[in-house]
Amino acid sequence: MNPFEKPTNPSHWLKHYDVKRFEKSGQNTLELLTHYLKLSHSQELEFVLPSDDPNSRLELWRKEMSQGSDELNGLIRNDLMPRVLERSNHLHDPRYAGHQVAVPLPELAWISAASALINNGMAIDEMGPASSPMEEAVMRSIAQFMGLGDDASGILCHGGTLANLTALLAARQCQSESDEWSKGTSESYAVLVSEQAHYCVDRAVRVMGWGEQGTIHVPVDRQHRIRPEALDDAFTKAERKGLKVLSVVGSACTTSSGAFDDLNALADFAQSKDLWFHVDGAHAAAQIFSKRHANALHGLHRADSVAMDFHKMLGVPALCTGLFYRRSQDAYSAFSQRADYLYEQGEQDEWWNLSKRTFECTKRMLSVAVFGIWEQHGPRLWESLVDQLVGNAQIFAANVEKRPGWQLFGAPQSNIVCFRSTIWDNSLLRRLMLERGPHYIVKTEFNGETWLRCTFQNPFTTEEISTSILTRLEALGAEWESLQNSAQ
Ligand SMILES: Cc1ncc(COP(=O)(O)O)c(C=O)c1O
Repeated sequence: MNPFEKPTNPSHWLKHYDVKRFEKSGQNTLELLTHYLKLSHSQELEFVLPSDDPNSRLELWRKEMSQGSDELNGLIRNDLMPRVLERSNHLHDPRYAGHQVAVPLPELAWISAASALINNGMAIDEMGPASSPMEEAVMRSIAQFMGLGDDASGILCHGGTLANLTALLAARQCQSESDEWSKGTSESYAVLVSEQAHYCVDRAVRVMGWGEQGTIHVPVDRQHRIRPEALDDAFTKAERKGLKVLSVVGSACTTSSGAFDDLNALADFAQSKDLWFHVDGAHAAAQIFSKRHANALHGLHRADSVAMDFHKMLGVPALCTGLFYRRSQDAYSAFSQRADYLYEQGEQDEWWNLSKRTFECTKRMLSVAVFGIWEQHGPRLWESLVDQLVGNAQIFAANVEKRPGWQLFGAPQSNIVCFRSTIWDNSLLRRLMLERGPHYIVKTEFNGETWLRCTFQNPFTTEEISTSILTRLEALGAEWESLQNSAQ
């Protein structure tokens, strides 16, 4: 049918803007989510992670899609959200010890909802008249708390991956001799980073056009920290290849094993070679708020830039990342573009037009949650959360160490613990746990060997629950073995 033949009926969208319907659906959602939270907290759900494989889940949702269209009354059908909840990974279950995503402070969901409703786009001041100055104020305050100095400031963006790319773009513009942003980049730049660093650093380098050779992986010690004495060698080799090293990137901490590079040693090296010192603190720069656990970050205050995810250890819903700069001016180097339809003063720095410093044009109102927590609690809430998470990891690690048949990779300095069975195949154990639950743990590989990995993201994971990870794995291993024996 030609869509211009007959005008569509505004009643289709009109009722979905109705305030009464909004109120009613809000009440229903509140009830549903409260019930979900209670179930999650009390471990009444069968598994933390529903275990079906991706293709059967796709099939299931395809079937659901063909059922959904009859109900014309609601914006979405009534049973959609319950099904989404039921089939998702349940981070609020204290048996969750998987990947590094915050178990959000539940009340922050209302801030996300309010921001979604207001939907101020943040690109320019007029589209974020409250949230833009909130961002500027809170980021300056936290940057200074980190010890980056009086001129420090920062921006919020969607994720550590984007923050690391943005920091390296700023580093390139500030460190290179020509105007790379305007003239295009040369392939001969490089960055020094741990061989255990998160892949997004290498991705950023490739996005900037420096190719595979642009990431120089510096060897690490047994605990996965950059060997400081290897930096000189890596630097000299890069120069011999004709590469100009612009930056050294420290990991705080590494994703796989939770290792912290010696940031002071990296800062000394950066200073001696006149390099930009960036810290990828996506996971654990958050420990700056904890008097007990900030010692792993010695030297952070000497960084030119620091990325820190609020959505990992700090209980803020994803994505919400801070990128902090020692010299606030440097933030404007990453991007510099005229956009006469947006900015009053094309090429000038205007803190109030946030998209001059972010990759995103429109972005969510990320500052509201961060500002709200910081003004109300200062560092205290985050400090106690970090202490709880790292404390849980340390308790679990101590249990692994003293339990026969288990090996610990190293004493945790953050909330990440790698460990393995010395009896059963570790990939098999992880697969059995995924299939049969109830816990959710992940795995990693070092030198071709599989290690199990827990990130203690949920503050309600008690010692009893974390010990039951080990007893469950032992039971699964023993059961599998006896099945194998009886099949022979
Ligand atoms: C050290 C490190 N850097 C960067 C990232 C990527 O962060 P995001 O998932 O926020 O993009 C991660 C994610 O786990 C990380 O651990």
